Amino acid sequence: MPEPEIPLPTVLDPDGRTIGAQEREAVLRVLDSAVLCSAFGAEARSLEAEMAALYGRPHAVACSSGTAALHLAVAACGVGPGDEVVTTPISDFGTVAPVLVHGARPVFADVRAADGNLDPDAVEAAITPRTRAVIAVHLFGGAADVARLREICDRHGLPLVEDCAQAWLGEDAAGRLLGTVGDIACFSLQQYKHITAGDGGLAIADDPALARRMRLFMDKGWDRSEGRIHREMGLNYRMPELVAAVARAQLAKVGGVVRARRAAAGRLLDALEGLDGVALAGEPTGHAWWMVPLLVGDNARWAKKLAAEGVPALPGYLERPLYANPAVPGGRTGLCPRAEELIGRTLLALPWNEAYGAGHVDRVAGALRRAARRVPAG
Ligand SMILES: Cc1ncc(COP(=O)(O)O)c(C=O)c1O
Repeated sequence: MPEPEIPLPTVLDPDGRTIGAQEREAVLRVLDSAVLCSAFGAEARSLEAEMAALYGRPHAVACSSGTAALHLAVAACGVGPGDEVVTTPISDFGTVAPVLVHGARPVFADVRAADGNLDPDAVEAAITPRTRAVIAVHLFGGAADVARLREICDRHGLPLVEDCAQAWLGEDAAGRLLGTVGDIACFSLQQYKHITAGDGGLAIADDPALARRMRLFMDKGWDRSEGRIHREMGLNYRMPELVAAVARAQLAKVGGVVRARRAAAGRLLDALEGLDGVALAGEPTGHAWWMVPLLVGDNARWAKKLAAEGVPALPGYLERPLYANPAVPGGRTGLCPRAEELIGRTLLALPWNEAYGAGHVDRVAGALRRAARRVPAG
C-alpha cells in the first residue's frame, strides 16, 4: 500500500524555509533606517562578525553571491592569465566561473566514485608549475578529504579554497567544521541553500592579508578609510543591507536547520538499511545534508519511478560535468571517467529539507523501496 500523499516541503515554499518574524523585523529595521547600501550601514559588517564567530575564524567578508565569494577567493589567491586552478568536475558553475573570468584554466581532477568528492591523488597528479590554487567542493554537504588536500597543498605551496556552498556546518571525519581547514572558505545564501537571503555570499579566512585583498576586491579595490584611491582591481560585489539583515536572522537559525536535516536523514538511512540496489554515496558522519546523495544502478530510471510518486530526485545532479559545458574551453568527454559514471549512471541526488518530518521521510523511503523493487539492481 502506498503511503498517503503528504506534500513534500521545498525551498520554494514558505513551509520549506525558515523565514519568519525575525527576517521580517530585520527587513523593516533596515528600511526604516533608510541606509540600504552596506558601504554606509552596519548590517553587513555585523553579519561578517557573526559569521567569523560562528566558524571561529578571524575574518569574514560578505558579498553578493556564492559565486562572488569564490571570485574574492580566486582574486585574493592572485590567479591570473595562464594560471591553472585544480578543481572538481561536479559542482555548480560558480566554482569555475571566477577562474575562467581571470583568464586562468580550471584543471579538472577526477572524483571518488564513492561520494563524488575530489580524489586527492587525482588532485596531486593534476598539479603543475602553473597551478595557483586548489578549490575543493564539499558536495551535497559531505566532506571532501580536506586533511589530505591540505597536506598536498602545503607540500606544493598552494592555497586551498573550500567551497562550502552546500555544506553549512558540515564536519569532516575528524570532526572539524568544513570551512576551517582551507586558507579561504566560501558560502552561499542562494535560495536553495541551507539558509537563504535570496542571494548572497560569505568568504572566511585566517590570514589578514588574504582577507584584506578579498575586502578590496569586493568594493572596487577601495579602502574607504584612506580616501578615494583604488589600490587594486575590484568589482562591486557588496551585499546590500536588506540582504545582510535577512542573512543575520538566517545565520542564527543555521544550527537548527542542520540539526533538523540530520534527524530526517538519519530516519531515511535507517529505513533504507538492508535495501538492495541503493546505498548512501559517502559517509553519514558530519554530513550537512544539502541533498541526500544515493548510489544506484540506473539513475534515470530511479528518478522516473520516484517522480511518478511525486518524490523529486536529480539523476546525476548535473546534466554533464562542468568541463563539458560550452562555456568551458577545452573540455572533452572522457576527461574524468568516475565523474561521468556518477552523472550518467549511478548518482541520484534527493533534494532535502529541514522541514521534513517523519511522515515526509517515510513517504520518500516508501517510494525508494518500491523503486528498488521495480528497478533491477545493476
Ligand atoms: C558548490 C557550489 N558552489 C558555488 C555555488 C554558487 O553560489 P551562488 O549561486 O550563490 O552564486 C553554488 C550554488 O549555487 C554551489 O552549490
